[in-house]
Amino acid sequence: MNSRPDTVVILAAGQGTRMKSAAAKVLAPLCGRSMLAWVLDQAQALAPQRILVVVGHQADEVRAEVAKHPVAAKLSCVAQEPQRGTGHALQVCLPALGKDPGRVVVLYGDMPLLQTASLEALCAEQARTAGGAAILTAEPANPRGFGRIVRNTAGELERIVEEKDASPAIKALREVNLGVYCFPGAELVRLLPGLSNDNAQKEFYLTDVVGRLVGEGRKVAALLLADEQEAIGINTLAHLAEARGVLQLRIHEQHLLAGVYIEDPASTFIDHGVEIGVGTKVHPCSVIQSGVRIGAGCEVGPFAMLRGGSVLADGAAVGNFVEVNRSRMGKKSKAKHLAYLGDATLGERVNIGAGTIFANYDGKTKSACTVGDGAFVGSGTILVAPVEVGAAATLGAGAVVTRRSVVGPGEVWVGVPARALPRPPKSQPSTPS
Ligand code: UD1
Ligand code: CA
Repeated sequence: MNSRPDTVVILAAGQGTRMKSAAAKVLAPLCGRSMLAWVLDQAQALAPQRILVVVGHQADEVRAEVAKHPVAAKLSCVAQEPQRGTGHALQVCLPALGKDPGRVVVLYGDMPLLQTASLEALCAEQARTAGGAAILTAEPANPRGFGRIVRNTAGELERIVEEKDASPAIKALREVNLGVYCFPGAELVRLLPGLSNDNAQKEFYLTDVVGRLVGEGRKVAALLLADEQEAIGINTLAHLAEARGVLQLRIHEQHLLAGVYIEDPASTFIDHGVEIGVGTKVHPCSVIQSGVRIGAGCEVGPFAMLRGGSVLADGAAVGNFVEVNRSRMGKKSKAKHLAYLGDATLGERVNIGAGTIFANYDGKTKSACTVGDGAFVGSGTILVAPVEVGAAATLGAGAVVTRRSVVGPGEVWVGVPARALPRPPKSQPSTPS
């Protein structure tokens, strides 16, 4: 049975006051990308024909984030200003939805942990109702703040009552609405215009569509989510930190299963969108940011910081207190202790001594350095970019290689400012006397 949704609508207009931040909540960072990017992935995993994102607070910033997503072509934003509730958020989508948008899934921009399998199960459940809807529910230990699921004597879902409208008896119910729905689109667009805001919050409730469908004799299936953690809605920075931890473990698990040795997952930070080759070892307290590519058989950390745009070829090693930023390390190149590599391109088997700094920023602009295959950079060297170091060259400990220096292949430079040592005289064949 095909239960693929045709349209996914993501509600992302809310401000998120409790985050105590001026930025829109859905733009908060989670493992190297925005909360919204995770939710856009959830939507895309269902392979719908199109995805609508309802934007309001910080609409321009949210639109810019949507435009960055790989499936941007399928995505369009709809403005909701002012925000008059979840039902109103769908009402503003009516022109975009048209008469029959097919099967419609509604997601929230602040629920980044939902797994594809749960959403697929929701759609399959909807497909079995023969024209009804399906919603995700949970039974949290503390149901505070959620809408409660009211069932009839036969145990079937009857309606959803918001906490602010609930009697003590309804508040005592434990099953709650998570706000994730799968609707028959034609029924949804037919019922949306008739919603009223005659309730405690003077809002148009999407939950009322559920009550109306049941009132018309259709079934609304409630799918109880097995893993409650998936349903965390992010409202505070504490929730954000909790969600980050969950996503981080999922990222670690993918690398571990792919043969990356992560010695201590709990102290290791690896963003979304990092490539790591098989057999690479990541030691504790290392931070690897989005966009970094690490080959096979590399060594990272402990206490290493690999920043966006960096590439480590197979067998490269980055040790303790080393930061690599927008730099490329060739095969088997090493920087084992206390170094900063910024805008550097290293060839193969380059050795970077302890305390070496690539001084890539002069206060105004950033410049790059290149170091050829097999070069040896002694401890405490400073390369004031731009600098070129040829293959198999040696920089003596403590050298300060000044701007625009070109160290020839095989040359030895020492001192401050660094200068080439004279080449040793070619040994003359001794003439027998
Ligand atoms: C809603 C549900 C409630 C459910 C809860 C789960 C309604 C009426 N109630 O509560 O039953 O238990 O979610 O979290 O739907 N949003 C907009 N525009 C708006 C209002 C909200 O885009 O005008 C977005 C928010 O950005 C957020 C989501 O919708 O992503 C949910 O809004 P929120 O106010 O947190 O949910 P409630 O209405 O309190
Ligand atoms: Ca609300």
